[in-house]
Amino acid sequence: MTRLITTIAEMRDIRASLTGRVGLVPTMGSLHDGHLTLMRRAREQSDVLIVSDFVNPLQFGPNEDYDRYPRDLDGDLAKVDGLADYLFAPSAEEMYPAEEPFQVDVGRIGTVFEGAMRPGHFNGVATVVLKLFTIIRPDIAVFGQKDAQQLAVIRRLVRDFNVPVDIIPAPISREGSGLARSSRNAYLDEDGRWHALALSGLLKDLSGRRMPAPELLHALEQARATSSTDVQWDYAEAVDPATFEPIDSSFTGDAVVIVAARVQGVRLLDNAEITVGT
Ligand code: PAF
Repeated sequence: MTRLITTIAEMRDIRASLTGRVGLVPTMGSLHDGHLTLMRRAREQSDVLIVSDFVNPLQFGPNEDYDRYPRDLDGDLAKVDGLADYLFAPSAEEMYPAEEPFQVDVGRIGTVFEGAMRPGHFNGVATVVLKLFTIIRPDIAVFGQKDAQQLAVIRRLVRDFNVPVDIIPAPISREGSGLARSSRNAYLDEDGRWHALALSGLLKDLSGRRMPAPELLHALEQARATSSTDVQWDYAEAVDPATFEPIDSSFTGDAVVIVAARVQGVRLLDNAEITVGT
């Protein structure tokens, strides 16, 4: 049975008593199948699994839905039963007793693409993840590849602060059609789901092959030019996976193609790795 922990002191005591590899899956609760996939991935590589369940106020902007964000601790406990050993669900006051808590500043990577849409968001994510890492001291932590920019921020966080945690990426889960699974897909009707395939379709055409940078940049420019009322592209770019800086025509090496578009007013994200070179 999964044990619920709500205080940092208890979490630290329990961690001190654990032996073997400790895995962490950080979540904001309201758990769904995607989270359970991350947990299964973490279980494969750890002896003890801790799931954190904390709606982090620092990663919400003033006009975002922090207060309305769904919370269902009992439901979450039932879902992780048999999969996680501990569910760490502290209150906001427990995590941030200070009125203006110190925050990690992730710099430029936090200001581009999703960071430009949500100023301060990645500073808030990095801050809570660093706190979870210092409280729980996991050996590994699993993050979904779907949130590619978040994954890049976390990788930089552990590198720049010398945090001894292995970051394990979990592949994007896709429907049979190729559409990346997201709770937001539920807002799309049949027509919308069809138009949404523009994102995964573009990535499918580009990924898994080696492509010279000028050809890749041209293909992305053409895709952006197809913006219409059905699929409004926010961006379709190839970026350096470590910095999220757009690649230029002389780039060679591994890149990530990141796409974001609005379909029926729903903002969808997707990405894929690509090898760039002649
Ligand atoms: O991806 C999320 O759910 C959150 O950003 C995370 C990593 C749990 C930090 O609050």
